Amino acid sequence: MCGIVGYTGADEAQGILIEGLTRLEYRGYDSAGVAIEQDGALDVICRKGKVSGLAHTLAHFDFTGTCGIGHTRWATHGRPSEANAHPHTSCAGDIAVVHNGIIENFAELREELIGRGHVFKSDTDTEVAAHLVEEAYADTGDLQSAVVHAASRLIGAYGLAVVCAHEPGVIVVTRKDSPIVVGRGARGSYVASDIIAMIDAARDVVVLADGQVARLTPEGVAFFDEAGNPLDPPVTHVDWDVDVAEKGGYPDFMLKEIHEQPRVIRDTLAGRLSAGALEIDELDLSPEELDLIDRVYVIACGTSYHAGLIAKNLIEGWARIPCEVEVASEFRYRNPIITPTTLVVAVSQSGETADTLAAIRDARVRGAKVFGITNVVGSPVARESDGVIYTKANKEIAVASTKSFLGQVVSLTLLAMLLAQAKGKLKTSQIRLLFRELADTAEQVERILADDAAVEEAALACKDATSALFIGRGMGAAVSYEGALKLKEISYLHAEAYAAGEMKHGPIALIDEGFPVIAIATKSPVYDKVVSNLQESKARGAMVVAIATEGDEDIRAHADHVIYIPKVRDAFSAITASVPLQLFARAIAVARGCDVDQPRNLAKSVTVE
Ligand code: G6P
Repeated sequence: MCGIVGYTGADEAQGILIEGLTRLEYRGYDSAGVAIEQDGALDVICRKGKVSGLAHTLAHFDFTGTCGIGHTRWATHGRPSEANAHPHTSCAGDIAVVHNGIIENFAELREELIGRGHVFKSDTDTEVAAHLVEEAYADTGDLQSAVVHAASRLIGAYGLAVVCAHEPGVIVVTRKDSPIVVGRGARGSYVASDIIAMIDAARDVVVLADGQVARLTPEGVAFFDEAGNPLDPPVTHVDWDVDVAEKGGYPDFMLKEIHEQPRVIRDTLAGRLSAGALEIDELDLSPEELDLIDRVYVIACGTSYHAGLIAKNLIEGWARIPCEVEVASEFRYRNPIITPTTLVVAVSQSGETADTLAAIRDARVRGAKVFGITNVVGSPVARESDGVIYTKANKEIAVASTKSFLGQVVSLTLLAMLLAQAKGKLKTSQIRLLFRELADTAEQVERILADDAAVEEAALACKDATSALFIGRGMGAAVSYEGALKLKEISYLHAEAYAAGEMKHGPIALIDEGFPVIAIATKSPVYDKVVSNLQESKARGAMVVAIATEGDEDIRAHADHVIYIPKVRDAFSAITASVPLQLFARAIAVARGCDVDQPRNLAKSVTVE
C-alpha cells in the first residue's frame, strides 16, 4: 500500500525522491506527490496516477532543493485524486506531512481543528496530522516536539515524515504500527517505509520502533523517545543484491520471481537437517514443548492463506494434530478456542498485514504460542511472534506473490515435519527421506521452468474466456485455490476454485461449450476421482486443462491441454503443481495486455484493515 520516502543531504532531492518512489511502486498505489524545501518555502507537487507522471511534471520545475519527502498513496479515505494525494500541508503551507496507515479518530480531530479555524483541502484522514503539527509548532517553534505532540493525539496506525519551511534540511519521522526505516548514506540521510527505496544509498539502517522519533539532517540522524531522550537503536545491515530491485533481463518482476523459486527452496532448507534431525532453532521451543501442542491454527490472508491450506494436510497427516486454517480478518473477530497448548502460525510475506498482526496480538493475549512465517526480517510479524521462520525468498516486487508463496509452503512443510518429529509420529529415517525429497523439488521446479511450451499453449486457448474454474482434491484443491487467485489478480479474468467433489453441487452448472476447467490431476490417492470430474466436465463441453504427472498418457483422453510436471510424493505436489499455474496466470495476463507486476486496485502489503 502507501509508500514514504524522504531525503536530506548534499544532492538535489527531486531525483532521489522520484527514484525512491519508483522503487515503492510495487506496493500498489493510485497517486503520488513530493514536497521539496527550497529557499525557505515548501513546493508541493502531487499527481494522480503513476510516479512517471509526477516525474514528468517535476521535470518542468527542476527544483534544486536538497531536502524533501515523497509518497505513493493507495486510497482509503477519499478517492484517488490530486487533492487527496500526499504530502498534505498546514493552512500556511509551511508544514508538509506524508503518512502511511489510518488515523481512526480523524473525524473528531478534523471537526475540532475546523472549529479552531483550520481549512481542509482534502478528504483524507492524513490532513489532520498536518494541522495538528501546525498548531503545536505555533506553540513550541520546534518541529520535533510538534510532531511528537501531534502524534500523541492520533489513534490508529501511522508512519509519519514531516518537513517544515522554517527548519531547513530537517525531516522528523515517527511511527506506530506502520514501518519506517531510516538510513545514513555517504551523501545524506534517508527515510522510507521500505528499505528497498534507499537500498542504493544506505545499507546500514535503523528500523524505527513504535513511538521512536528520528530527526534527519544532512549531517546525520538522531533518535529519541517520545519524551525527547536520546536513543541509540540497533543498526541492521542490508545485504541483498541491489538487483532484487531490477528485472535482471526478464520482461517483468513476476516472471523473474517465478524463476527464482528453485533458489528459494534451497535457501529455505539450507542448514535445517543436522545429524538426521530437523532443527529450527529460531522457533525457540524445546521438543517437549512442541510435543505438548494439541491444536494448530494457521492464520493468514490472500496467497499466504492458501499456503496454510496446504500445510493443514501435512500437519494433520504427519503430526496428527488438528489444524484449522483461517483468514486473519475472520479469526480476529470471532472467539476461537485457544489454550496454552494451542499453536498459532501466522503466515505473512510482508510481515505487516494489518489483519494478520491483529490476529497475532489477539492470539497471544489469549495465551497461544505464536510462530510467524514471514519473508521480511525485523517485520512486525517477526517481532511480535514468539518464534519466526524466514522464508528466504528475498524481496518480492510483483504484487501477486509467487516465490514468497513457495517459500511459505516449504517453511510450513518443515514445521509440519518438526511437529511430527517432536510427537514421535515420524522416525528419523522417515524425516531424512522426506527432507531429501523436499530438497529435490528445487530441481523439479527447474525442469518445469525450463519448458513452458504447454503452459503457453493452454494459456492462449483460455485467454479470451470470461470465467474459469479450477478444481482439485486434497492437495490439488488447495493448489487450485491459489491458481484461481493468481489468475484473477493479474489477468482480471474471473476464476473460481472448487474442491472437485463439490462440482455436482453447483459449479457444474457453469460449464458449457469451451468453458475452461483447470484441473490438478496429478497421480495421488484421489487421482481416479479427479478423472471422473474431468469426464463430467468434458461431457458438458468444457475445455479441460490438466496438470498431470509425467508419464500419464491416459489423461490425454480427458483433457484438451495437458501440462506435465515431474512425479513427486503427494505431500510435495503443491510445490510442483503451483508453478505451472503461476506461469499460466502470467501468460494469460500478458496475452490480455495487463500490467502483470502492478495489477489494478491491489496492494502488495495490506497495512490497513
Ligand atoms: C495482498 C497481496 C497478496 C498477499 C496478501 C497477504 O493481498 O496482494 O499477494 O498474499 O496481501 O499478504 P502477506 O504479506 O500477509 O502475505
